[in-house]
Amino acid sequence: MPDENSSRSSLLSLPPHVGIIMDGNGRWAQERGQIRTQGHLEGLKAAKAMVKAASDLGIRYLTLFTFSTENWKRAADEVGFIMGLVIKYLKAEYDFARENRIRVRHAGDMAGLPEDVRKDLQETCEATANFTGMQVILALNYGGRDEIIRAFRRFALRAFREPGVDAEKFLASLTETGFRECLDNPDIPDPDLIIRTAGEFRISNFLLWEAAYTEYYISQKYWPDWTKEDLEEAIETFRKRDRRFGGLKSQSGETVHE
Ligand code: IPE
Ligand code: IPE
Ligand code: MG
Repeated sequence: MPDENSSRSSLLSLPPHVGIIMDGNGRWAQERGQIRTQGHLEGLKAAKAMVKAASDLGIRYLTLFTFSTENWKRAADEVGFIMGLVIKYLKAEYDFARENRIRVRHAGDMAGLPEDVRKDLQETCEATANFTGMQVILALNYGGRDEIIRAFRRFALRAFREPGVDAEKFLASLTETGFRECLDNPDIPDPDLIIRTAGEFRISNFLLWEAAYTEYYISQKYWPDWTKEDLEEAIETFRKRDRRFGGLKSQSGETVHE
């Protein structure tokens, strides 16, 4: 058992917010001569295990890239299968979420989801809203560009509700802080670490605004093969990164902001 101090210090260096681009389900299945949907089924098991692992480690926020705004381009049966898995996941994992005080949230365009998925997702988000453990954010029908456009619409609607706002006043009111408040989950801090499995070096429209200063970790493993040990390794690598946020590293080891 680690003593209180060492467990506290390891907790202090945990990335509070981890995002995962869970990629490679299809290739995992194809390499085994199986159909792509089998890979998504295995991917779901990996996602469940990862929620448990991240919660046990003490991660505060875990964003799982589950379905992008571009994934609708895939065959209808694959899309339908993934949506069915989401419903299954929400129903099957509620007890686990309650026992572990896990709050489930959504990022993305809720209005564009099929009615049954939307209903179950909204119900789960509401039922877990007061849980104070880890927050799991399901990025579902999520695209970073789409989020920015939706945020801009919210921002403009809010601004023009005020009397006497003309174009000049509107533009003057447009600040990073104010705009950020209009994103899908403004209370959640930006991701510290984004993991992508299956070896691709791209962001694929994930958290474009929020990931301005995020650290990236690319794993060659396909998502269904990803384990708690892999997560721990990613966190170990993250701990060694020197995050400067555009500032300079001071001699005391603190980042100089101004
Ligand atoms: C990730 O695995 C799951 C989703 C994008 C929904 P893929 O289905 O993209 O798997 P590959 O990239 O084709 O192997
Ligand atoms: C990103 O994976 C989306 C999710 C993991 C949900 P994709 O498989 O859609 O990304 P690309 O097409 O390889 O960029
Ligand atoms: Mg893929």
